[in-house]
Amino acid sequence: MSAIATTILSFIRPGDVILHSQPLYGGTETLVTRTLSAYGVAAVGFADGVDEAGVRAAAEEAAALGRLAVIMTETPSNPLNTLVDLKLVRRIADEIAARQQHRPIIVCDNTLLGPVFQHPLACGADVSVYSLTKYVGGHSDLIGGAALGSETLMKPIRLLRGAFGTQLDPHSCWMIGRSLETLALRMERADSNAGIVAEFLRDHPRVATVHYLPFLPDGPQRRVFESQCSAPGSTFSFDVKGGLAEAFSCLNRMQIIKLAVSLGGTESLACHPATTTHSGVPADVRARIGVSDATIRLSIGIEHADDLLADLTQALQAG
Ligand SMILES: Cc1ncc(COP(=O)(O)O)c(C=O)c1O
Repeated sequence: MSAIATTILSFIRPGDVILHSQPLYGGTETLVTRTLSAYGVAAVGFADGVDEAGVRAAAEEAAALGRLAVIMTETPSNPLNTLVDLKLVRRIADEIAARQQHRPIIVCDNTLLGPVFQHPLACGADVSVYSLTKYVGGHSDLIGGAALGSETLMKPIRLLRGAFGTQLDPHSCWMIGRSLETLALRMERADSNAGIVAEFLRDHPRVATVHYLPFLPDGPQRRVFESQCSAPGSTFSFDVKGGLAEAFSCLNRMQIIKLAVSLGGTESLACHPATTTHSGVPADVRARIGVSDATIRLSIGIEHADDLLADLTQALQAG
């Protein structure tokens, strides 16, 4: 959140507006829609990041409120992996720029797929931000963030980082260096495990839906997935048949997959978004975005896939 907050604050002034995709990670959503409103910065969201008319309408609404300074995106989003078309966002940002003498800075939270499976800067974003706490750190033993972009854009971010003191401590920096050595190996193994687990769940009689990017039907989301991401990664959700009781029963039976709300570590984790990460989201909004009481989010790690399937087999048993 330090990296995200320092990046956004580097490019906004009172009276500005932030356009953002929905859903965002809860901390980012709170920063953009609540914290910054106290500093005279408004926010307008768009729910479908691949729908040109919807994104354009939200951008026009934002530009009518003041200078559109930053476009904050997160793709794939958490927990249902909805996507934002970064090329589309760039096109609209260029159109707005021609009118307001400032091109909005496009920020992309690349925590879920990057830097191995998605490169936002190549797709039109200006700054790629990360929670390094997740896949990059990868061992659930550090908290950190990063912002990457051109030297020109990094300059104000670096200055504000110094002013606020949001530098990472030396020990965590050393651990990040260690983690980078195995980043691609870990993400590739987790990605292939996730494919095995997702296919197992899709065929399971007690599972209703699997929200996994390769299972997207033909349509704009699928086209964006194929053009923007080189793999689906290993964080995705599924809905069990039933509701809260069935989801809790499955979660409580898990023995190898640990219950925790983080993601991106070597160990597989599961959580119940409706009562944890998304408990602050009103029930009607949760229903609209598809987070139900039956939804379980998985972050698949690098264990042997057979162990994960065995654990899910017994966790999904009736009774
Ligand atoms: C997509 C995404 N962005 C940002 C964050 C914030 O990361 P941190 O906890 O490292 O500040 C998280 C944390 O869950 C996240 O999932």
